[in-house]
Amino acid sequence: MEDPVSSALLAAAGLLLALWWLLGRRRRPLQGLPPGPKPWPLVGNFAFALLPNPLVRKRLLNMDRQKQLPKGEGGAGREQQPLQQNPPHLLLTALAKIYGSIFSLFVGSRPLIMLSDFEAVRDALVNQAEVFSDRPSIPIVALLSKRKGVVFAPYGPVWKKQRKFSHSTLRHFGLGKHSLEPKIIEEFKYVKAEILKHGDEKFNPFPIIGNAVSNVICSMALGRRFDYDDASLKTMLKLMSRGLELSLNSHMILVNICPWLYYLPIYPFRVLRQIELDITAFLKTIIAQHRESLDSQNPRDFIDMYLLHADEERKIDSESSFTEDYLFFIIADLFIAGTDTTSNTLLWSLLYMSLHPQEQKKVQEEIDLVIGRNRPPTLVDKARMPFTEATIMEVQRMTVVVPLSIPRMASETTGKRF
Ligand code: HEM
Repeated sequence: MEDPVSSALLAAAGLLLALWWLLGRRRRPLQGLPPGPKPWPLVGNFAFALLPNPLVRKRLLNMDRQKQLPKGEGGAGREQQPLQQNPPHLLLTALAKIYGSIFSLFVGSRPLIMLSDFEAVRDALVNQAEVFSDRPSIPIVALLSKRKGVVFAPYGPVWKKQRKFSHSTLRHFGLGKHSLEPKIIEEFKYVKAEILKHGDEKFNPFPIIGNAVSNVICSMALGRRFDYDDASLKTMLKLMSRGLELSLNSHMILVNICPWLYYLPIYPFRVLRQIELDITAFLKTIIAQHRESLDSQNPRDFIDMYLLHADEERKIDSESSFTEDYLFFIIADLFIAGTDTTSNTLLWSLLYMSLHPQEQKKVQEEIDLVIGRNRPPTLVDKARMPFTEATIMEVQRMTVVVPLSIPRMASETTGKRF
């Protein structure tokens, strides 16, 4: 928990950092960057991260520029609110209105270029995909991922091989194909039973949906599902969501400026380090159990396929990147990338259905017409359910569960726009 001692230590760390910067460093202005708000020394545009929460009253960005903005867009209407209460998407939208759809911010002394409209995103990620496929090394992410796995690993031959193997193996176990359907339908039986247990009582759908989604990922990755009251799965899910929450904590941004802070014995660093240890122990135990019971003629899941592939690779290349350590990071990626995203999409859908009973009624009518009430849905039904599909797409448009996507990095200097 956050405590006064941690806050004081963080403030002291902030002061030391400022002194270090004042005494030892000079900012070199970067030429040719897109326009953006003026950064503060040392902390760039994230000055608030240096202050303990009770003291946070300053604004993230050059708020004097915001006076030009209309109310409700992070502009004058929000002027008296502490910065952290301004939702980031409104702040970023406001900045795009001032500086244009391509603008720059600074995290410490590192520039961050925001692409905030469809054309800019397409131009970078589609038209220049080869240049923009790399991921930046963000200190907090690098500390946790060791730059391995498939989500945050640097673009290059290792990532390409690991990613190619992961994609084809996940497809083999049904991801993006109809063969995953039986697992989803089986899991849905447990969801239904769990919901029915509550009868007419109010209940919180978060844990049920979270367990169900992670069980579908577990069935592909670990070859098994867990009962909803299984203590190890419950703990693992709690750790993952707490870990994700802490990684986005404003104080954690300081680690991106000064990575050694991560090792300080104070909140939130101490807690995140313990979470990292616990998740590692949980997943490594599962990998070790797979190794012990591995049957080369009968691979049960992603882990088995990976272990067999790693054994084959090592016969021809003793330096192969396919190792049990790398496997651990891929499995962690699948859980972290797949669980929260899919659970939140489903939870938002439930919320919007209850907030818009008229739309809920239309979706139900289409389900009754096309599927009826005596069999589970299948992907084949999708083509005949345009209203339901449009509703799901609208929920995803409105809620965008990964609003800033996962950052990319240009691997070479490119055209004038960036
Ligand atoms: C509604 C559900 C989901 C959403 C909204 C979502 C969103 C995203 C986004 C925005 C990215 C970044 C793409 C980029 O940099 O271009 C991403 C990457 C990724 N996601 Fe998802 N995702 C979802 C479900 C899943 C699931 C279920 C899995 C796996 C079980 C998964 C695994 C991954 C992986 C491995 C990457 C890195 C891919 C790469 O760089 O090749 N995601 N996802």
